[in-house]
Amino acid sequence: MKRRCMEPSLMPTTSIVALGGSTLRPEHDEDRARWFGRLRQVVIGLEGEGRRLALVVGGGAPAREGIALASTVLSERAALDTVGIAGTRLNATVLQQVLLDVGLDVAPTIPTTTDEAASLLDRHHVVVMGGTVPGHTTDAVAVDLARKAGASTCIIATNVDRVYSADPRTNPDATSFSEMDIDALAAITGIDTPLQPGASTVVDPVAVGHAKRGLVDLAVLDGRQMDRLEAALDGRPFEGTLVRSR
Ligand code: UTP
Repeated sequence: MKRRCMEPSLMPTTSIVALGGSTLRPEHDEDRARWFGRLRQVVIGLEGEGRRLALVVGGGAPAREGIALASTVLSERAALDTVGIAGTRLNATVLQQVLLDVGLDVAPTIPTTTDEAASLLDRHHVVVMGGTVPGHTTDAVAVDLARKAGASTCIIATNVDRVYSADPRTNPDATSFSEMDIDALAAITGIDTPLQPGASTVVDPVAVGHAKRGLVDLAVLDGRQMDRLEAALDGRPFEGTLVRSR
């Protein structure tokens, strides 16, 4: 069975989404406009229902490009992570402006800590942010924010359709999960050990550690497919992997 759901009775009033940087940049320009348009509609719907939403945006192409450029002369991890964070904030600013443009109640600042983001969520329906400090990715920021904002689930909207036992691009025998527990995910991704600057796994191991200790479930899905993201936001069955931490 491929579809799993967050129970409708657990439909969240506050939702936290780690939005992978690649979701903002489908290959074709017309798909980019369509994706932004669909996201705007989804967020307008949430705001209309009085719900709160934090979008923690990944750095994608600008982060990778910046880290590659800096790596030609720099090797210190914190310096490269700082460049990556700048990429995440660039993407966050793009998304913030796209949402403000249709009159949504979006926080006017891009918070730089999860405490600041949680406080902005008390005053605005929508908060958009990128990274915080070196040593993790925006997945970890989103899970930390979910814990602080009292959200029981953090949505990890990325560029793969679900969690696999191994990288399906290089391992044809890889199997996928529609549901798993956090320890099973940790066995695949690792836990608490930071990735190299710019490196990627389906979920950042630091985020897996935060989810396990904070008892935050993860909804891992392909964020390029807006219907899947919308379903998870509404607590409906979604195509992807539900990772249970409780
Ligand atoms: P991302 O969050 O974009 O990494 O951070 P990602 O998981 O690869 O996500 P996408 O799918 O490309 O969007 C990019 C880099 O920025 C630094 C790290 O070096 C990370 O690899 N970073 C980001 C931090 O050091 N701290 C943060 O809070 C966020």
